[in-house]
Amino acid sequence: MIELRNVKKIYKDRTVLDVPALCIQDGGSVALAGANGSGKTTLLRILARVLRADSGTITAPDDVLYLPQRPYAFRGSVLDNVLIGAKDRREQALALIGNMELSALADKQAQSLSGGEMQKMALCRLLIRPCALLLLDEPTAALDTEGTELVCRALAQYKARTDCTVVFSTHTPQLTEKAADRLIQLRDGRIETDHGVWPVKE
Ligand SMILES: Nc1ncnc2c1ncn2[C@@H]1O[C@H](COP(=O)(O)OP(=O)(O)OP(=O)(O)O)[C@@H](O)[C@H]1O
Ligand SMILES: [Mg+2]
Repeated sequence: MIELRNVKKIYKDRTVLDVPALCIQDGGSVALAGANGSGKTTLLRILARVLRADSGTITAPDDVLYLPQRPYAFRGSVLDNVLIGAKDRREQALALIGNMELSALADKQAQSLSGGEMQKMALCRLLIRPCALLLLDEPTAALDTEGTELVCRALAQYKARTDCTVVFSTHTPQLTEKAADRLIQLRDGRIETDHGVWPVKE
């Protein structure tokens, strides 16, 4: 169970996140939506422990994988990138790369990929490892409809394999509908609405 109580993040005198209470069940898939600047990345970074809240308490697993909003590549090929932290899983790396339709690029220098290709590769680099909590910041922001569909499928497979909890931010309804069972809408750092995506579970 992930639990946040009275969590706030304040920059200068501006409160950018204010969450009095939030619980996420183990195994849940939560989409975070909301306008630019509404606090999605801030919440994900706090859950990933790359950012400290200014107040409140957070209970979340230590075993976290986090995809930042801006994907990046390390030096080396696409395959080298996916094998980072999973050196002995070459077969699985190639399978993940194939699922993302990146096989033709496996030996290409990762730093020369297009934005969308890099986003898919960054996701492969994460999904090769199991975790208890998967945090994805706009994982399909650079992807077309087909790429988004590939990510939906890869996430479903990963979830079936690991039984992890997933929290992702997105502006893409296609991803929310396919990959989330709960939609939290943020507005000015606060939870505006919080309900099941489809069918609506009250
Ligand atoms: N280091 C910082 N210093 C000052 N303000 C910050 C800092 N980081 C974030 N903010 C502010 O906090 C607010 C929330 O930012 P956040 O990145 O969480 O939004 P977001 O919902 O992820 O937006 P987007 O959809 O554009 O990614 C924004 O108004 C942003 O300007
Ligand atoms: Mg963001």
